Amino acid sequence: MPFQNITLDVSDQVATLTVNRPDKLNALNDLTVSELGQAVEEIRSRADVGGAILTGSGNKAFVAGADIAELAKQGPLEGRERARRGQEVLRRIETSPKPIIAAVNGFALGGGCELAMACHVRIAAENAKFGQPEVKLGIGPGYGGSQRLPRLVGQGRALELILTAEMISAQEAYRIGLVNAVVPAAELMAHATAMLRKMLANGPVALAMSIEAVVRGMELPLDDALRLEADQFGLLAATEDMREGMRAFLEKRAPHFTGR
Ligand code: COA
Repeated sequence: MPFQNITLDVSDQVATLTVNRPDKLNALNDLTVSELGQAVEEIRSRADVGGAILTGSGNKAFVAGADIAELAKQGPLEGRERARRGQEVLRRIETSPKPIIAAVNGFALGGGCELAMACHVRIAAENAKFGQPEVKLGIGPGYGGSQRLPRLVGQGRALELILTAEMISAQEAYRIGLVNAVVPAAELMAHATAMLRKMLANGPVALAMSIEAVVRGMELPLDDALRLEADQFGLLAATEDMREGMRAFLEKRAPHFTGR
């Protein structure tokens, strides 16, 4: 079934996933979250996809948050269920073995900031704005913001952003480490695509294991995380890609990785 609130285009290994509700500043209603979940599974499973760029349609918003019209009607159990569903979809993005880059083209507020934080890398357009304004609505972050924001920018800055509910500019987001780069709006997709292509020139198994080592390793005690890294290091020695990568270096040529 075709999607209603998102689009998914694949070209030469690069999937572009666009949240497409521009009249509502791409706010995440339940249908959009569900479609995002389906699209992420497609990205993870399709052999013709090496990685993805996640963005919003129009030039004003990446995603302006969860859909407040839906939140306004929720009771406690429904609210918890909604948060769990959103968290699960974002976790599938974060644990994707294929790199996913957020191209933040405007407002990334609440669930939008949380969606961007679940991606592996964030590139912001100069006009992008970030924030976790939930407390203004009498709620707190529900899609992982209370956990991913402090991990990215530190506890003090995360609490400042969450408790003041203030929006920050792309430059400020860059200064505190919330985004990896800020580029002119017209160059955003080209920049994100170039970065993703740079990643995809490398061995896919090595990419997948590196994502797992960082994302899962961050949650483990250091000794367990180091063990995970060492196990992966050993496992990669069984791959044809490792032999090819090293052979190519010694033969002074570009490697041709096959993912085996
Ligand atoms: N949920 C539902 N609808 C939203 C939305 C959201 N999170 N964010 C924006 N919209 C809708 C508006 O209601 C409006 O719809 P309408 O034209 O049918 O009235 C449309 O998107 C355009 O938004 P508008 O507020 O008119 O644009 P603006 O340029 O004046 O302001 C924002 C932009 C982002 C500052 C403002 O929309 C905003 O504060 N949005 C909510 C952000 C938020 O609190 N997110 C966290 C939710 S938990």
